[in-house]
Amino acid sequence: MPTQKKTTLQKKFKSQDILSLDQFDVPSLYHLFKHAKHLQTFTERGKVLDILKGSIAALIFYEPSSRTFGSFASAIKRLGGQTLEFQNPTSTSSVAKGETLEDTIRTLESYSDIIILRHPEKGAAKKAAEAAFFVPIINAGDGVGEHPTQALLDMYTIYEKFGRLDNLTILFAGDLLNGRTVHSLLRGLSLFENNTIYLLSPQILKLPKEEKALFEKRGLKLIEIHNSQDIPKNADVWYWTRVQKERFKNLSDYEKVKHSFIVTPNLLREKASQKMILMHPLPRVGEIETSVDGDKRAVYFRSQIKNGMYVRMALISLTLGKLK
Ligand code: NCD
Repeated sequence: MPTQKKTTLQKKFKSQDILSLDQFDVPSLYHLFKHAKHLQTFTERGKVLDILKGSIAALIFYEPSSRTFGSFASAIKRLGGQTLEFQNPTSTSSVAKGETLEDTIRTLESYSDIIILRHPEKGAAKKAAEAAFFVPIINAGDGVGEHPTQALLDMYTIYEKFGRLDNLTILFAGDLLNGRTVHSLLRGLSLFENNTIYLLSPQILKLPKEEKALFEKRGLKLIEIHNSQDIPKNADVWYWTRVQKERFKNLSDYEKVKHSFIVTPNLLREKASQKMILMHPLPRVGEIETSVDGDKRAVYFRSQIKNGMYVRMALISLTLGKLK
């Protein structure tokens, strides 16, 4: 969009594209969380809200999605707004006829006030934002790049539990190479002081070297470990992720590493503190045993998913200028 762009949001969300966690500064995060908390309280009390009455959001998802799509759609509708929804645009829209992303975006912005885009290509959200003349774009996942709104809900969940986002010890496990939620969340955590991050992944799915160097430069203490036995007992958060099958060229490579690290009740008993939380962006495909779900520390089906809706309610309202 050819409006004035800010490198950091500085609490001014109105009309801004949300493409990367790098746009956020600490005051903007807290500003968002404050609004998310209010909206959460209202929603939990059953209050009907009409903050987005008269607004239309276009959701266009070129990759499968349950939670991101569902929570965005629900967030908008709960605030009295309406949605224009394209799932599988490669078969249901003019994309099937060969239309470019740019032309599809320019079409959708004629019908809507904001566009929420998921796309398999890293950088696609930025490309869409450059193409859009009138409306902001929200990145709902661009390939192996970023997934900023997931990181926002993850940080909200951590903040809700610990009351802080600094001085934390966090274990990331799984596909740190391809997991876009990991890439965004590490960006967010690097805004805060004194965070120690343990990285547990198969050798071929390590956090990319450039990213590692970047986060270290920003002050994160990163410690790579190679075995579940090396998990520190004082971690506040375990952030488990699935191995991203769709990013593999060779499926036999995926088969070899897909279940390298699995959370079991036994692993929790051995390595997890009583105060920690176990998070997962979902979907899980075997890397957390279902027998762990009943453990109160496992927040992925408790607070984490719902928080996604509240954070997205706040983000869209701010971006559309309906909240200040
Ligand atoms: C994640 C994604 O799509 O990046 N899911 C989500 O949005 N909650 C994680 C994943 O697919 O593994």
